[in-house]
Amino acid sequence: MKTIWVSLFLLFSTGLMQVNSQSLPSDVTHENLINQLQFPVYQEDMSLVAPSELSLEERMKWFKDAKLGIFIHWGIYAVNGISESWSFFNEYVSHEEYMKQLKGFTASNYHPEQWVELIERSGAHYAVITTKHHDGVALWDTKQNHYSVVKNTPAGRDLISPLVKELRKKNIKVGLYYSLIDWSYPDYPNLTKNIKRYQNDSVRWENFTRFNHAQIKEISKNFSPDLIWFDGDWEASAEQWKARQIRELLLKDNPEVILNSRLQGYGDYATPENGLPVSRPVEPYWELCMTTNDSWGFQPGDKNFKTSTEVIQIFVDCISKGGNLLLDIGPDATGTVQQEQVQILTDLGDWIRKHEKAVYHTQAGIPSDCYYGPSTLSEDSTILYLFLDHQPNEGIMLKGIQNEIHRAWVLGNGTRLDVKVHNKPYWSSKPGLIFIDVPKETLDARMTVVAVLLDGKIRIEK
Ligand code: GLC
Repeated sequence: MKTIWVSLFLLFSTGLMQVNSQSLPSDVTHENLINQLQFPVYQEDMSLVAPSELSLEERMKWFKDAKLGIFIHWGIYAVNGISESWSFFNEYVSHEEYMKQLKGFTASNYHPEQWVELIERSGAHYAVITTKHHDGVALWDTKQNHYSVVKNTPAGRDLISPLVKELRKKNIKVGLYYSLIDWSYPDYPNLTKNIKRYQNDSVRWENFTRFNHAQIKEISKNFSPDLIWFDGDWEASAEQWKARQIRELLLKDNPEVILNSRLQGYGDYATPENGLPVSRPVEPYWELCMTTNDSWGFQPGDKNFKTSTEVIQIFVDCISKGGNLLLDIGPDATGTVQQEQVQILTDLGDWIRKHEKAVYHTQAGIPSDCYYGPSTLSEDSTILYLFLDHQPNEGIMLKGIQNEIHRAWVLGNGTRLDVKVHNKPYWSSKPGLIFIDVPKETLDARMTVVAVLLDGKIRIEK
């Protein structure tokens, strides 16, 4: 990973101010750039950048316990139902055509209290909304001289404040997505993948940076977010974004704010996108951000939705590896959430509610060598939660657990389960094989959870 960072750093930093085609070759999609940059590789000791009274552990505590967040991609791209910003960057539509969507963005059915009800219903403990995507259109009343839904669309009002207010009422943490890239800003070098406004113009880049920092300050001051979710850092280096200064200014405003990793090494936690990590990430804090279909924003033609059970499988996989899921919804231009997404969030919430002990206040589970499936552990490591997405032929098997089992039951219905131990002669210190019977009638239609109470903290054979 270090090597990747070093080579990307070199790529981005060769010639400061070359934020242009040289740093973003036209055949490079954002996906493959993100995939390389998805985990933060800290450039320096973060505790020295804007030192805070609070340790990283203290700042990240709520995030670690949250497990589920809801991502909201909302912007003018919902008017025509085309891809957010990328549709003009990749020249599927001209910038001029794209910006005509401003006229159709009404937010006429925007009821933030209903959104928050749905978010709460899903079991999420935080939400992250796009305050500004790469197209540069702010969803709040920016004082900078640039596009906003307040000044340039029929919506005509700040859409962020009322959502923040509703989230606060329900004690749901507030996350604000902010794109460092702004392809519409006159002093930003890139307009599309082929059209560059300038090359190597440090004065114009400085103008842009001043504007960019001013907007970041605005969202920090106006909304005191719990989390800022940066995006688009791949188009420039840490020096060019002045990433260190961004971190400093945000933590000065609010020592408790946490930052995702897309800040060229100055973030707090890793942000893989759509690709569920196969093995447990080494970073202590991470979150998978994922679409419900294949689009971030509203695209009515995209019906490739995951089923609720698939989303639950993915969610469980994340928490069993110690991470969170940030699940996306893309409301339409009126503010209506797509029915399929309402369904997924509702089903997910129902499942979580039934199994919440296995979800919140848990930590990553045991290695899959010990149990062929996802698992979590209670905070004190004395209860093991085993997730089961199928009907076992007979008992489920556990290996390498040195503890005695006090009791096993099905979470959510309480049925006590039979536990058998094999291959455990009295003279051997090796753990036996544990088999737990899970009768068919106790299975959950989406994902069963078996709780296993141990005789103390879990001890796994090395
Ligand atoms: C990407 C994309 C973007 C999307 C985001 C969500 O970086 O540029 O369109 O908003 O990821 O993770």
